[in-house]
Amino acid sequence: MISIKSDYEISLMKIAGNIVYETIKLVGENIKPGITTYDLDKIAEDYIRGRGAIPSCLGYQGFPASICTSINDEVVHGIPSKKRKLKEGDIIDIDVVACYKGYHADASKTFAVGKISEDKQYLLEYTEKALYIGLDQVKPGNRIGDIGYAIENYAKKHKLGVVRELCGHGIGSSMHESPDIPNFGEKGTGPVLKEGMVIAVEPMLNYGTEKVFMLDNDWTIVTGDRKPSAHFEHTVVVTKDGYEILTGDDRNE
Ligand code: MF3
Ligand code: CO
Repeated sequence: MISIKSDYEISLMKIAGNIVYETIKLVGENIKPGITTYDLDKIAEDYIRGRGAIPSCLGYQGFPASICTSINDEVVHGIPSKKRKLKEGDIIDIDVVACYKGYHADASKTFAVGKISEDKQYLLEYTEKALYIGLDQVKPGNRIGDIGYAIENYAKKHKLGVVRELCGHGIGSSMHESPDIPNFGEKGTGPVLKEGMVIAVEPMLNYGTEKVFMLDNDWTIVTGDRKPSAHFEHTVVVTKDGYEILTGDDRNE
């Protein structure tokens, strides 16, 4: 069952979404060579709690931190650590979920640390664009497969690998609700989108192979060939004729 949110629920998710947006922005401002991912996690946690919300990842199925910080070949679910210092040339995905008065919002953005290679720049540019290509399909009457098809097709055109083991999801009073939203698929298949549904769309694209595996920490997903991976995510509500981003449209920043 895919839930339709009331106006009141959507208003809470907008607040959660703004907290997530501001958290990612604040963490982004602190990204520089030498800072640890532990420091970034604390900055995020303090900000989220200061806004009267809860970092949803902390303790989720035992996850030990408030945000996910995934560097270079790490696709998602990187664990913040005092031992992990950012270096010039890294890319880092900051994935934040906050819960406000019982409602979650989820977003992520991959940042450059200082000057990065042209390959990494290419990966960031087309992964972020893939998110909006997917979101273009979000409107009442379209189907979940339309989103996945659009992302997969766009990624293929740009010779990027689409991670298949992880996907986007519905979101609301739980962080993960139905439906699953794969970043691949067939047009005209899957559940139909309806006004009031809230979904998180999150392409994870790899510079090389689409294959991934999990590290021994039982969380972090890395690319099979250890080439870099990027991840961009927004939580959006389906509106009468399209969608509205709840986690802040930062395309012109
Ligand atoms: N944004 C991630 C997701 O949609 C959040 C994972 S939280 C964690 O799956 F606790 F699993 F890290
Ligand atoms: Co998500």
